[in-house]
Amino acid sequence: MEKFLNLISREMEEAFAAAGYDRELGKVTVSNRPDLCEYQCNGAMAGAKRYHKAPLMIAEDVAGRLRDSKVFSGAEAVKPGFLNLKLREEFLAGYLREMNASEKFGLEEPEKPALIILDYGGPNVAKPLHVGHLRSAVIGEAVKRIARYHGEKVIGDIHMGDWGLQMGLVITEIRKRQPDLPYFDPSYEGEYPEAAPFTVTELEEIYPTASRRSKEDPEYYAEAMANTHRLQEGDRGLRALWQKIIEVSVADMKKNYANLDVDFDLWWGESTVHEAIPGIVEKMKEEGHAYESNGALVVDVAEPSDTKEIPPCIILKSDGAALYTTTDLATISERERLYHPDRMIYITDKRQELHFQQVFRTARKCGLVSDGTELTHIGFGTMNGKDGKPFKTRDGGVMKLSDLISDINAEMRGKIASNPEIGSEEAEKTARQVALAALKYGDLSNQASKDYIFDIDRFTSFEGDTGPYILYTIVRIKSILAKYSSAEGVTPVEDCVIGCAGSKAEKDLMSDLAGFNTVMDNAYKEIAPHRVCAYIYQLSNDFNSFYHQTKILTEEDREKKESWIALLKLTLDILTVCIGVLGFSAPERM
Ligand code: ARG
Repeated sequence: MEKFLNLISREMEEAFAAAGYDRELGKVTVSNRPDLCEYQCNGAMAGAKRYHKAPLMIAEDVAGRLRDSKVFSGAEAVKPGFLNLKLREEFLAGYLREMNASEKFGLEEPEKPALIILDYGGPNVAKPLHVGHLRSAVIGEAVKRIARYHGEKVIGDIHMGDWGLQMGLVITEIRKRQPDLPYFDPSYEGEYPEAAPFTVTELEEIYPTASRRSKEDPEYYAEAMANTHRLQEGDRGLRALWQKIIEVSVADMKKNYANLDVDFDLWWGESTVHEAIPGIVEKMKEEGHAYESNGALVVDVAEPSDTKEIPPCIILKSDGAALYTTTDLATISERERLYHPDRMIYITDKRQELHFQQVFRTARKCGLVSDGTELTHIGFGTMNGKDGKPFKTRDGGVMKLSDLISDINAEMRGKIASNPEIGSEEAEKTARQVALAALKYGDLSNQASKDYIFDIDRFTSFEGDTGPYILYTIVRIKSILAKYSSAEGVTPVEDCVIGCAGSKAEKDLMSDLAGFNTVMDNAYKEIAPHRVCAYIYQLSNDFNSFYHQTKILTEEDREKKESWIALLKLTLDILTVCIGVLGFSAPERM
């Protein structure tokens, strides 16, 4: 369906043309003075110079052509030359009826869906997920769902950190504790044990210990480096142990992500492309893009138009070791080879901006992607505590994601349990569902690039710009619809028909609904989940105003009542789609 603003702009363009002016002037926007009018057009102001005419005269000419308009019931030329517009109720209702009957409520499918590889999550094996990984998972999942709803094909790739020094550190620490394991015996030729020699809890403690020891003890560090090297070179025992570390760690990750309702299509890691690295590096060298500088292999990526210095991209360190950039470059090359995507989108902390700038430029320069493949990095800001500093536990440690989720669940449980109508099992489930909405909405409602303050009290509030408020609105609508349906002899909800607005509140709600396809399209094009949040917040506010002013269920006029019921159903459907793309869902009651 054509977007609502475009559609009504077309009517205005016709009027400009009919009055003898350039139709381009007829762009309509939402009024910035809602007290005076609903929509406005400032085209006459722009036309004044071109036609050497007072803008008010132009506006009056155009208004004259709109007297019998099916779109506008009022078009008033006001000083100095604005057109104040009022929409015909019937036109708005007609648009909503068409939306209701359309696939995806009028959001048009792309002519040819793009294939997008979305790189998000990015957890590191053997290290616990921390709150920094929360943002990537939450934003990435929303971006994935928004793009899919828009009609694109998206492959979500978790891109685990499973290959660097952290693996060597973990292996070293395990060796110190259990030197007799067969993994460390070079003469061992048998099968390695099925069971991992550690639990996930132990694993979580092993990494920080190893990391600390490597900083205090140069010998320990050297050993970790050597183990990393041996692992990467393919040492049979270390590879087998590494496999166990991945197994245990990934099982835990899957649980964590399932709790967040986040899932991935590909579980690639940095190690996935290990074998591809030598070939790619060779190609870069042969084609003269990569050269040696102070022993390291680098590619120059600075461009004359740079306003700040972009240092060369290091491909191999002087000891020949691959780096984070190398695995990212090889991953781009492998994705290109296997999928030919139209686009790759990365969701990481914005502090990795330079890294991606270097990687993208190198990939282009060295022809690792085709020219048409778009590479996009979406950098997000930091999640801070109430003190404005990066979020920490009460005793100042790094907050584990699972602890954060438990905290918010507990907070929500307290609120839900106070509703005496809800049994304990349902309360528990509902609490988790609402808590997830609180967490995700609290994050997604901010523009991704901005830092934000994680405030449990605010996020879990049922009032204001919060997830629970949106869910509360949805639950309210569900409950009205259920009450309506339970009465005798009523028209089924699906058969109720939206009619003309009878009040300003109703018209505002209807205008919001008409904006759905525009919002979804923009959210996709700008990769901006916060647009969807802002939309459903306004929609919920306008719905609640309408609700407070209207006695829906006791209305005597059947046609009016059914029109409202249809309007409620459409509001419910749109809100449900929107929270779905944001990555959470609503309970039946709360
Ligand atoms: N593992 C990385 C980290 O924890 C994030 C990976 C992001 N994705 C990528 N392709 N580099 O910071």
